[in-house]
Amino acid sequence: MNTVQSISNLRQIRNDLPSPVGLVPTMGYLHEGHLSLVQRARQECANVIVSIFVNPTQFGPHEDLDAYPRDIPRDFALLEKYGVDLVWVPELEQMYTPDFQTWVTVERAAQPLEGKMRPGHFRGVTTVVAKLFNSVLPDKAYFGQKDAQQVVVIRRMVKDLNFPIDIVVCPIIREPDGLAMSSRNGYLDHEERQAAQVLFRSLSAAMSAFENGNNDAGQLREIMTGTIMSEPLADLQYVSCADPDTLEELSGSISRALLSMAVVIGKTRLIDNFLIGD
Ligand code: PAF
Repeated sequence: MNTVQSISNLRQIRNDLPSPVGLVPTMGYLHEGHLSLVQRARQECANVIVSIFVNPTQFGPHEDLDAYPRDIPRDFALLEKYGVDLVWVPELEQMYTPDFQTWVTVERAAQPLEGKMRPGHFRGVTTVVAKLFNSVLPDKAYFGQKDAQQVVVIRRMVKDLNFPIDIVVCPIIREPDGLAMSSRNGYLDHEERQAAQVLFRSLSAAMSAFENGNNDAGQLREIMTGTIMSEPLADLQYVSCADPDTLEELSGSISRALLSMAVVIGKTRLIDNFLIGD
């Protein structure tokens, strides 16, 4: 497994790699969710590149950039084991020069939900992902459904800016009790970890209501809200029943939807989602 830091070294190695080349963009501190993306890329691509970069521009001023967990030696060992060809750990100074002033902004799809709670977050994500794409020039790029809005926003950017890249979305990987894997789960203490099950419980309650014939968007939101409110340690930021492609909030009877939510447990902000319907 090769490891590189500078964009020029990355490009040199990339040029000699036979296609298809798959990119798995990450912020490191890898868990089974990331590794499922790597495995999928390994199945579909002749060469797999993983980037590890804790992107400062997608963190708000009061978010956990400095505390964000990092363990590069462990990440390298895992990626080696999973047969990755090249790991790129970009240098901060090369990604964001002191006079950096060019941003990629997706408009409507980045506004609701996470966009509303975390102003500027998606501008940071789309800008860094565009830079990763321009540097690696992958044929395919792999993202997790866990960050459902990120997927919608990146797909929009890829279409609107004509990136010749196939976006592959992989299912959420969950702990045995349903909690979606996330690098932030490590912040939870024992009691909070128990309380965090409420996200999966509330999404499951709404899905089973839908499967039993309740297809009213407002009632599905109420079911999710009610379940979250029943957990004393949970502080609900939003629940949503939205169009999976545009993320517009739905009303009345629905045939398919993205159910999603953000919940703060203690000091840890967790998100989760289910896609329901056809
Ligand atoms: O999903 C993530 O880990 C990040 O948002 C990404 C796509 C690597 C961009 O920094």
